[in-house]
Amino acid sequence: MYARAAQMIMSAKRCTAFTGAGISVESGIPPFRGKNGLWNKYDPETFDIRYFYTHTRQSWEIIREIFYTLFGRVQPNAAHYALAELEANNRLQSVITQNVDNLHHDAGSRRVHEFHGSLKRLVCLDCQAKYPISEIDLAILPPRCITCDGILKPDVIFFGEAIPEPAGTHSFNETKKADCFLLIGTTGSVAPANMIPSAAKSNGAVIIEINPHRSEYTASVTDIFLKEKATVAMERLMEEIDKL
Ligand code: APR
Repeated sequence: MYARAAQMIMSAKRCTAFTGAGISVESGIPPFRGKNGLWNKYDPETFDIRYFYTHTRQSWEIIREIFYTLFGRVQPNAAHYALAELEANNRLQSVITQNVDNLHHDAGSRRVHEFHGSLKRLVCLDCQAKYPISEIDLAILPPRCITCDGILKPDVIFFGEAIPEPAGTHSFNETKKADCFLLIGTTGSVAPANMIPSAAKSNGAVIIEINPHRSEYTASVTDIFLKEKATVAMERLMEEIDKL
């Protein structure tokens, strides 16, 4: 299976990766669903944009606890680095990620479409100014805009928000052109992100899925299912690619 997957990647005209929380689990970031899932501990409702507007401080306290205290210290793992290496060797066109942890960038990937935005930036709800998180002190919540004193929010989409542009358009354009699609660590639970693999499939792409568990995609769109953790599977895949 790994040899066949490697062959597909090497013979592809345009291979694209689509990643979810599972690729960052071995960097120490819990997934949202399943064992140790964040949604087992925190109510997803607190990540709804209406809650953010009506309970800004409480929302920010949870966001800081999960996404800046915990996520803040994490590093890319071998799976992130393998995708960056495939891109550097012109074997991977881009990464479309649902993750907001910036680990693909940190691993050296350059063409990354952040379908749900990024924690590394804050955006002002009033004037839309954007700030790198390194410039903002989260000791005082909610953080305020340096320009207009408006409330700042992480530049990620909350439940109930639209997909950010141009990431959304670029992601669907990539999906239309891909003839090989590497699907890593995602349940397929959340729309519209979960439409991307089926769009790739209907455009004729070969779907290679990496996940230690079956997902909503496994029976419906996956052609080659590598039932394994992302770091182990990507290391084995890179070994097979090196043999070609
Ligand atoms: N390697 C690969 N996959 C893994 C690993 C691992 N080591 N550990 C867990 N997984 C898989 C799980 O089996 C599961 O299929 O990662 C997936 C994680 O699923 P979710 O937590 O649902 O994450 P994701 O699919 O990215 O969620 C989509 O939901 O809450 C929203 O905005 C949030 O972007 C997120 C979206």
